[in-house]
Amino acid sequence: MTLEGKTAFITGTNRGLGRAFVEVFAANRANVIAHARKETPEFREFLNDIAQKNSVTITPVFFDMTDSAAMRSVVRSIVMAKTPVNILINSAGVAHGGLFQMTSMEKIHEVFVVNLFAHMELTQQLLRYMMRFPHGSIVNIASISGLDLKKGNCAYGVSKAALIAFTKTLAAEVAQSGLRVNAVCPGLADTDMANLMEAKAGAEMIARSAMNRLGQPREIAEVVAFLASDAASFVNGQIISVDGGRA
Ligand SMILES: NC(=O)c1ccc[n+]([C@@H]2O[C@H](COP(=O)([O-])OP(=O)(O)OC[C@H]3O[C@@H](n4cnc5c(N)ncnc54)[C@H](OP(=O)(O)O)[C@@H]3O)[C@@H](O)[C@H]2O)c1
Repeated sequence: MTLEGKTAFITGTNRGLGRAFVEVFAANRANVIAHARKETPEFREFLNDIAQKNSVTITPVFFDMTDSAAMRSVVRSIVMAKTPVNILINSAGVAHGGLFQMTSMEKIHEVFVVNLFAHMELTQQLLRYMMRFPHGSIVNIASISGLDLKKGNCAYGVSKAALIAFTKTLAAEVAQSGLRVNAVCPGLADTDMANLMEAKAGAEMIARSAMNRLGQPREIAEVVAFLASDAASFVNGQIISVDGGRA
């Protein structure tokens, strides 16, 4: 599998899964447009190291996913610079757990804005532009929480279920324009998101995995890179769980 000659726009790359996506995509020879909310010296250094190590170009871009104007301005600069975008990985996300009656509508909106609407917005802004380039692929990072809806998931799980629904409907709409759209549903993976989870909820999620362990970010990233690559050229509208199997 190679991503040589392709450029991937990946959101939420300063830590967690997004960071592993940058590492694995660059190792597979993709150029990367690496999104983060804020610029830091540590992030710059990380991107420079990966770019040098793999002889690829990595271009950082910065915006808060909730800031439409800033997002639009970054997309405009990419289009003006004629930087190709073959691949879009919608990964930035926020977690939340809580019973419906204990969760404010403000919190539900907040989670949906990042986990669903911002991805839809970025996808909509980039879609026509991506159609100019061959072999386009979009991978949305959903979650097994969007498939396996349990109590306490009215904000996060429902936002991911909506992202899965969006993935399927978009896949049906744009296939004939040369774009494939799939989603990956990670199980609990070893990032800040999982590590900040309430211990009991985390242990329950791990117990539901047949492998009975956390996933490593790289294990998620390899599947995302496969879906983004031409090796998956007939895979479209699919929701792929990467969770060690269900116990
Ligand atoms: N880890 C898991 O167990 C797991 C399981 C299933 C699905 N997922 C999904 O995988 C994706 C990545 O999760 P992760 O584990 O890497 O989480 P993480 O370690 O908490 O990282 C989240 C990333 O999203 C970014 N982000 C959040 N809100 C943002 C905003 N308003 N504007 C810009 N960036 C924002 C964060 O940026 P800052 O550093 O600036 O906050 C960070 O880069 C998420 O969509 C998550 O739902 C994760």
